[in-house]
Amino acid sequence: MEQLKIVATAHQVPERVVTNDELSELMDTSDEWIYPRTGIHNRHVVTDENTSDLATAVAKKLLAESGWSADDLDFIIVGTMSPDALSPHTAAIVQGNIEAGNAFAFDLNAACSGFVYGLSAASAFLSSGRYQRGMFIGAEVLSKLVDWKDRTVSVLFGDGAGGLLLERTDEPVGLIAEELQAYGDRGEAILTGRFANQNAFAGEISPLDPYFHQDGRSVYGFATREVPKVLDRALQKAGLQADDIDLYLAHQANHRIIESIAKNFGQSMDKFPTNMAEYGNTSAGSTAILLDELRQSGQVKPGMKVAFVGFGGGLAIGAQIWQL
Ligand code: ACO
Repeated sequence: MEQLKIVATAHQVPERVVTNDELSELMDTSDEWIYPRTGIHNRHVVTDENTSDLATAVAKKLLAESGWSADDLDFIIVGTMSPDALSPHTAAIVQGNIEAGNAFAFDLNAACSGFVYGLSAASAFLSSGRYQRGMFIGAEVLSKLVDWKDRTVSVLFGDGAGGLLLERTDEPVGLIAEELQAYGDRGEAILTGRFANQNAFAGEISPLDPYFHQDGRSVYGFATREVPKVLDRALQKAGLQADDIDLYLAHQANHRIIESIAKNFGQSMDKFPTNMAEYGNTSAGSTAILLDELRQSGQVKPGMKVAFVGFGGGLAIGAQIWQL
């Protein structure tokens, strides 16, 4: 086990709530269509904030909760597929905003697996012995990548950020095992933010397409088929059975996908808490928001074994087993 401690968690979502009923005034959709297929009623959407604003709010809450000073941080990683800009990267903006003068900072894009991949990277930095304390934040403003006239995509997503502070510890807690897997040959199933080659030598210029596109059916099939295999490999590496895990915190894309995974492992949905009804799919933010809510309510507590599960764009999947 990599001996690491989750010292604090926090989240931040925009105030503005957009209900399914409100979306039905913008496009031909309804709560009756959206909720049974996804488990989503609402999503929070920014009006004047960007990704770094949500991430900075999370960073400040994390420091306040932990009592750490910004100078204590060795690094800041922001998982995002919707940065403010490619440069400066969002983690650097956060680092500047909180004046974390000793921290290096970088963004990591693994789409909806961003939480698990980011936690993996943060854990590896700390376990290497080179660093002592780090911050990971998953932060997304997906509303800027969504065509609000496209009912097949816009109803699924929301904006939000969540994060945690990690440190090396001598206590018997930390990362027991993980399994990460990419499926680049299936990447066309989720396409977002394509750049055109606009250089002077490029000939015909293909149009820039910022919007999110996905083949919902094939992503659904991919997630229900492949996620259990990856999670099973993580459990095997950990030497644990599915019953040994107290809670499974899965990426909040779709209630039916999570139900299918729970059924696959013979687990009750009580062990697979969800919050997509309120936030929709916030990609790299989703599991971190859920973790913080459950910690604040006392449902996630020290002594538990928790599995984190991410899946989505790339395509990519990741699973981690933690002893809290
Ligand atoms: N409201 C009303 N009707 C709709 C809507 C909507 N919002 N969206 C689609 N429809 C219509 C379609 O046009 C289609 O109509 P047609 O039969 O007349 O052509 C019909 O409903 C069925 O459409 P499908 O796309 O086949 O619907 P499906 O049952 O597959 O549900 C959904 C769609 C909810 C997107 C599902 O496929 C899904 O959840 N997929 C997984 C998506 C996911 O989890 N992505 C995660 C990764 S995201 C990331 O990595 C960032």
